[in-house]
Amino acid sequence: MDAYLVDWFSVIFRWLHLITGIAWIGASLHFVWLDNSLEDPGEEKKGQGIKGELWSIHGGGIYNFNKYQLAPPSWPSVLHWSKWEAYTTWITGTLLMVAVYYLQAQSYLVGSDKLISDPGVAVVASISYLLSGTLVYEALVRSPLRHREGVFVVLLALFIALQCWLATRLFSDRAAFLHVGALMGTIMAGNVFLGIIPAQKKFVAAVQAGEEPDPAPAAFAKQRSTHNNYFTLPVLFCMISNHYPFLYGHVLNWLILIAIIAITAYARHFFNLRHRGIFNYWILVRAFIAFLVLAGWLGYERYAERQASLAMEVADDAAFALIDKHCTVCHAEKPTQPGFVAPPAGILMDDRDAVLRSATQMATAIKTDYMPLGNLTGMTAEEKAELVAWLEQQAGG
Ligand code: HEC
Repeated sequence: MDAYLVDWFSVIFRWLHLITGIAWIGASLHFVWLDNSLEDPGEEKKGQGIKGELWSIHGGGIYNFNKYQLAPPSWPSVLHWSKWEAYTTWITGTLLMVAVYYLQAQSYLVGSDKLISDPGVAVVASISYLLSGTLVYEALVRSPLRHREGVFVVLLALFIALQCWLATRLFSDRAAFLHVGALMGTIMAGNVFLGIIPAQKKFVAAVQAGEEPDPAPAAFAKQRSTHNNYFTLPVLFCMISNHYPFLYGHVLNWLILIAIIAITAYARHFFNLRHRGIFNYWILVRAFIAFLVLAGWLGYERYAERQASLAMEVADDAAFALIDKHCTVCHAEKPTQPGFVAPPAGILMDDRDAVLRSATQMATAIKTDYMPLGNLTGMTAEEKAELVAWLEQQAGG
């Protein structure tokens, strides 16, 4: 497909995905907060079947939310359901996946040194990865194991960790982080579609018929909803991770991803407890220390590599020759590489000043094997080491 058209699809779907995603996660965070912050409504309201209430001020005025124990005394003419935010986020995300990773599989989905090198096979593997992961979660959540909370949490954590490792074996590093996010996002949308909404329909049907609603589907829906809640922060990290090659391009990227998912889900736990009036600041402290350990480890490695680079001698001419050979086919005002219509990421390398401005970013992109993209220009390890050394000397000097 024409590169210009693919760029437009990418813009439009990304923009829509962001908007619908904000609507979904925004509503979800709001309701979690609302539910956890309900206060005693007083005797009169309790008499009307109100379980809890919350007052808040926003924009034009003061709002009073009431949560009913079961049915309201008279059924509202309009009842808002939160479901299309989730479905449209998933649909636009899938379209974006197609535009970026399937239509441009050779550049973005396939990585060097991975199990799959054929773009068509990679697309099939991507669909299978997402589908099978969602099915395994569904099987797990529907099994009796879900009644044993401790065991279930451990299994779910192991399952996600395995998916992190698997994705980095199958797909390019950048696509791998995104696939873990897409899998968790698909599981979340599945939870809404397959669990939460059907339970709500049963609930509404029962209370409208004046029957006592069956508590089992509601409890199951609550459990799925809790999983979604803990997935939220990790998924958002995966979705923005493609800006950070220093994380996804690391040799132990799967371990870094597992650590970040664990830290962010754990930090979410603090907020969930806080909404219920439990202030366990140790959770945040532990999450922060874990984060510092991660940053310290990566920082130390970077320092050691930099020292080695600074000791290497590379002539300016040799460095520019390498850039000319391996980068400017794409990173030029008018790229000569087929499929490119503008300098990617806005990064130009046609003169010394332009190169100096982006030296640090360029060094990171090469070191992590992200660039040259898909190593289309066949850059060797020696050439990479040489150019990285020169770039780091420029950035440091
Ligand atoms: C085959 C085309 C191609 C070649 C060759 C290429 N790049 Fe890129 N480059 C891209 C594309 C496409 C992007 C944007 C990727 C994205 O959106 O994440 C990019 C993005 C970048 C970025 C920004 C990454 C970021 O932080 O988001 C840097 C830096 C970069 N390239 C450096 C280089 C260097 C240095 C070389 C040569 C060693 C090189 N590129 C060769 C296509 C190429």
